[in-house]
Parts: sequence; C-alpha cells; structure tokens
Amino acid sequence: MADVIDIDDPADPRLDDFRDLNSSDRRPDLPEGKGLVIAEGVLVAQRLLDSRFEPISFLGVERRRVELADDLDGVDVPFYRTSAEVMAEVVGFHLNRGVLAAAHRPPPLELADVLEKSRTVAVLEGVNDHENIGSIFRNAAGLGADAVLFGDRCADPLYRRAVRVSMGHVLRVPFARVPDWPRGLEVLRGAGFQIISLTPNPSAVPLAEAMTGDRVAVLLGAEGPGLTEQAMRATDIRARIPMAPGTDSLNVATAAGMAFYERVRTAS
Ligand SMILES: C[S@@+](CC[C@H](N)C(=O)[O-])C[C@H]1O[C@@H](n2cnc3c(N)ncnc32)[C@H](O)[C@@H]1O
Repeated sequence: MADVIDIDDPADPRLDDFRDLNSSDRRPDLPEGKGLVIAEGVLVAQRLLDSRFEPISFLGVERRRVELADDLDGVDVPFYRTSAEVMAEVVGFHLNRGVLAAAHRPPPLELADVLEKSRTVAVLEGVNDHENIGSIFRNAAGLGADAVLFGDRCADPLYRRAVRVSMGHVLRVPFARVPDWPRGLEVLRGAGFQIISLTPNPSAVPLAEAMTGDRVAVLLGAEGPGLTEQAMRATDIRARIPMAPGTDSLNVATAAGMAFYERVRTAS
C-alpha cells in the first residue's frame, strides 16, 4: 500500500513534482526540465499504474485516495494527502479532479519494435496541438489502432493536457518517432505497410477505396496547413474522407477516428 503522508504546507518541497503546472518555463513535465509525466484524475492515474510509466508519488484529497485504494495496493510510493485548497496553491489553479500522479518518462520506444507489433498506425506531421494529440490517442485506443508515430514538428504527447485528453491512453498506446522525416517512412514501407496520406483534397481517392493494405499507416497533418507536399509524395496514395458541400475539412483527430473506424470496418 502507498504510504499516506499528510501535508498542509503548500511550500513543502516534497510537493515540488506537482508545482506550477501551468508555468511555461518551470512546470515539472517539461521534457527538457524535470521531464516528468503528470496524470490527472482517478481514471488516468489508474491507467498510469497499468502502464510502463513508473510512478514517483501521488498528491490528492482523501476522497480520491479512497477511490484509488485498491489500485495503490502494493504500490510502494508516497500518497501526499492534502486539501483541495493546498493542491490549488501548489499546482497554480483549482484542480477539480482531486488527484495527481507524477511519473518518470521511460526511454523512448524504438520504431522497429513498435512496428513489429502493429497492423494499423497513425503517423503525425506538424500536429502541434496537445488536445488533438490526446484525442488521436483516445481514438486509437478506442478503435484498436496499434500505435501513433511522430514525424516532424509535433507537440509533446506526454504533456499533461495531452495525457488528460487522451484519458491516459497516451500512457498505454505505444508511440515512437520516425527519424529522418519524411524519408524515414521507407522503414514503414519496408515493414510492409501501405502508407496513406489523409487529405481533404477533392482530387484524392475516397478512403474506403484507398485502404487496401494488410498493414496500414495513415498520415495526418496539422490544422491549417495539413500535410506537406514532401510528406505526401513519400506515401503510396492520397485518400479523402468525402465532405458535405460547403465544408472543407475535418479536425485532425476526427479524421484519424474515421480512418481507424474504416480500418475496423474493412480489415479482417
Ligand atoms: C484541418 S485538416 C487540414 C486542412 C488543410 N487545409 C488541408 O488541406 O489538409 C487537418 C488534417 O486532418 C486530416 N483531414 C481533415 N479532413 C479530412 C478529409 N476530409 N479527408 C481526409 N483527411 C482529412 C488531414 O490529414 C489534414 O492534414
């Protein structure tokens, strides 16, 4: 059982891993700073405990500790018990989920290892919005996509907001970087993946016709610019989700969810 330690001084240094979570230069989950991962809420904390991420400590109110009691059984890290007011002072804002977990970032997974176990992957280019990244992971988990891969210019998937929006699935769905972007897509091709650029461009093939591979990688781009021409040229086919008249595109996480669903519908 995690050791329960009562703390009522917000300045207590044992709480430093949870301090100033909204600070752009001091927050503990900056990769180049303390490099921690922060999970918010009971469900996300449970997913953290069920993942490869190693918890360091928990901070929360008594009610949330009770809700987590079974999950914390046998977990040998401190649970700092405090009030909602002290938590708000420490993290810098009112946090209505009532519990936080801090964990170490494990070493990144190798692309080859992730691909070996995957049949359906999303590959992101320039997706720099944490909420969109979180939603893509949630969709991947819910619709059975195996992994998320990162090309150039993407936001940190382990930032607190991405972790929260993913409902903790970013801690469980494997992810890896594709080096040497976009030439590195060759590694996917070598592993037998059909590589599909998802683009709303009307000249692209409807997705339902385009997705034919036994192993499939769908490339998704940023809000605004979409995929670069260079990245699309490195893929096998350009595919679109047909849009209603008078509309131009879907949110990237919505498009990812539809592509994952198309895969569920068609892959045997
Ligand atoms: C908001 S869209 C970007 C729109 C951008 N103007 C473009 O032309 O790609 C963000 C990403 O979602 C995906 N996407 C959005 N709508 C889509 C659609 N109808 N068909 C296929 N992919 C779509 C694409 O991967 C796109 O790069």
